[in-house]
Amino acid sequence: MGALLDVRNLGVRFGAAEAVRGVNLSLDEGEVLGLVGESGSGKSVTSLAIMGLLPPAARVRGQILWQNAAPADPVDLLQQPPAAMRLMRGHKVAMVFQEPMTALNPVMSVGRQVAECVTAHHPSLTAREAKQRAIAALEEVALPQAALRYGDYPHQFSGGQRQRILIAMALINRPRLLIADEPTTALDVTVQAQILALLAALQREHSLAMLFISHDLAVVSQVAGRVAVMLAGEIVETGRADRLLLAPRHDYTRKLLAAVPTLRSDRSQPLAIAGR
Ligand SMILES: Nc1ncnc2c1ncn2[C@@H]1O[C@H](COP(=O)(O)OP(=O)(O)OP(=O)(O)O)[C@@H](O)[C@H]1O
Ligand SMILES: [Mg+2]
Repeated sequence: MGALLDVRNLGVRFGAAEAVRGVNLSLDEGEVLGLVGESGSGKSVTSLAIMGLLPPAARVRGQILWQNAAPADPVDLLQQPPAAMRLMRGHKVAMVFQEPMTALNPVMSVGRQVAECVTAHHPSLTAREAKQRAIAALEEVALPQAALRYGDYPHQFSGGQRQRILIAMALINRPRLLIADEPTTALDVTVQAQILALLAALQREHSLAMLFISHDLAVVSQVAGRVAVMLAGEIVETGRADRLLLAPRHDYTRKLLAAVPTLRSDRSQPLAIAGR
């Protein structure tokens, strides 16, 4: 059986600018692949292409093959009509974004937003059933007092709690692939660790395939078995996370690693990745 997701020679341009060039990625059922690279390297554009959420101005080449239930042939997501992609999103492939506040509707209670994710894909459910499922999903991500806080609005939750709510929304329809695009970047370090642990636990429990995106190789290597390193729109190195950490082959991967602070880091020096 082929990979669940097989991205072949993906290219994305915005006018004359090439945001992504010749990207190849594949993910098996239940596998976690990390995607790391500095700001602007094309990580989000790659994930939006998979979700079918690129703006109309984007010019896309290549194939994004998705393995439907075997033995069907894979379908190319880039060739799917918008209506089919809408059905895929949330149901088969879901995404968690960097900034939870902007991904939530500020004027709708979080409970209703989670319930709407259910009814979007299961319109025959009654409002009560959808609410029950929403509460169960919020409990699964360990949102404190999920049932009591069902009617609260996004601004009444902390950043970490909002990210938990988004994870609940992403997973409520049991997708096979979750794309987590810098899900912990906006959070402080302690909360970051909690959200990482939660994602890792849910991934294992549901045998979920996950594309985990971050600019931080150390964070990625905590959850991903395999890591792809992106630079200026291209993948420059792919390998097992532990091998990449111990023996990075590409100069840029070494620089990404050197930017990770350790107890032995020279604190008198800036942390930024020194020029490529
Ligand atoms: N809608 C758009 N129109 C034009 N250019 C875009 C658009 N979206 C992204 N780009 C460009 O594509 C390139 C890759 O952007 P992308 O958002 O994928 O980077 P990233 O690796 O996710 O960075 P970050 O770590 O900051 O999130 C950048 O040069 C960006 O300016
Ligand atoms: Mg991004």
